[in-house]
Amino acid sequence: MRIRQFAWPDYDAVAAVWATAGREVVPRAELAAKLTRDPELFLVAEDGLAVAGVVMGTYDGRRGWILRLAVHPGHRRRGIASALVGELEQRLKALGCPRVNLLVLPDNTAGLRFWQELGYLPMPDVLCTKAMT
Ligand SMILES: CC(C)(COP(=O)(O)OP(=O)(O)OC[C@H]1O[C@@H](n2cnc3c(N)ncnc32)[C@H](O)[C@@H]1OP(=O)(O)O)[C@@H](O)C(=O)NCCC(=O)NCCS
Repeated sequence: MRIRQFAWPDYDAVAAVWATAGREVVPRAELAAKLTRDPELFLVAEDGLAVAGVVMGTYDGRRGWILRLAVHPGHRRRGIASALVGELEQRLKALGCPRVNLLVLPDNTAGLRFWQELGYLPMPDVLCTKAMT
């Protein structure tokens, strides 16, 4: 297994991993805008020749965020998500990031178990959002 930075030829495979993992697929235009900042924080895991996992990190200069982590169902419980997050954490640390946040739905028990295993603890904050239309 190899962790590396996302490149555009990966897009269809990454979208397929998100879709099969039940995650919303980031449209190309949205991704292009994200990649104008910290492209080195958008990572894929290759298992053989296939893209088996993906994670998107961001850093705003104060906090890091981990977004859209997903591993293809046929490649789970082999440490791929842990390796993706480990590499992302190293890259965030190298940028001077002191704390990393992420969002996980409260009914995603597998996701919560995974994050707690890696030392990410739940906070009581409620997510608020507004579309900039
Ligand atoms: C959550 C997810 C990313 C884990 O990917 P993975 O590559 O299978 O994870 P790892 O192999 O690195 O797991 C590391 C540890 O996390 C825990 N863990 C992972 N999946 C788990 C599950 N389904 N149930 C309970 N614990 C789990 C285990 O302790 C595991 O270690 P072990 O296999 O030695 O027991 C994957 O199941 C997935 O893509 N789920 C759908 C999308 C999602 O929920 N994303 C994360 C929420 S934001």
